[in-house]
Amino acid sequence: TAVPMDTDTRTRALAVLREEVAACRRCEPLARARTHTVFGSGLATARLCFLGEAPGADEDASGEPFVGRAGQLLTKIIEACTLSRDDVYILNVLKCRPPENRRPLPDETANCRGYFEKQLEIITPDFICCLGTTAAQALLQTDEPIGALRKRWFTWRTSQVICTYHPSYLLRNPPAKREVWDDMKLLMAKMGVKL
Ligand code: URA
Repeated sequence: TAVPMDTDTRTRALAVLREEVAACRRCEPLARARTHTVFGSGLATARLCFLGEAPGADEDASGEPFVGRAGQLLTKIIEACTLSRDDVYILNVLKCRPPENRRPLPDETANCRGYFEKQLEIITPDFICCLGTTAAQALLQTDEPIGALRKRWFTWRTSQVICTYHPSYLLRNPPAKREVWDDMKLLMAKMGVKL
């Protein structure tokens, strides 16, 4: 029976891991091209984590996750749930930007797995929301497409996991926003957040 770490221990463990990630060169082409590694944002005590795919140009430039167009939409989704970005922890599968924003390669996901899993193990959130196919498949280690993973509850370690469409997909396909909102209502109901 694992005892959760106290707040200060979690915060310090995340800071140590952040430094390790900042020095990582496991994917040499990505390391050579990056401006910043993008570790994550939020408090070590967050009850909810959003897991995305990989940094884009804006995130590589700033070192912060989800700050570009897709990020602004994610912020709106979080706020529609009556939460703020400061109430949640936001991280990606990959910590470095892939060239031309292509999907992470299997080797890249494998190289970064230890980092995103360790982050989640430190935080031990009650809930994880996977944003898009890459995040859902990487966390749950499945080949099922996002459409088959939505509207179902999974367990990862001690966290309850739900999957929804990625905000970038919503930018290309705005009608799908309605389905993401349905997913958020499921998630908020289980979290006990009244909408
Ligand atoms: N898309 C992601 O998956 N992550 C980011 O941080 C930004 C865009």
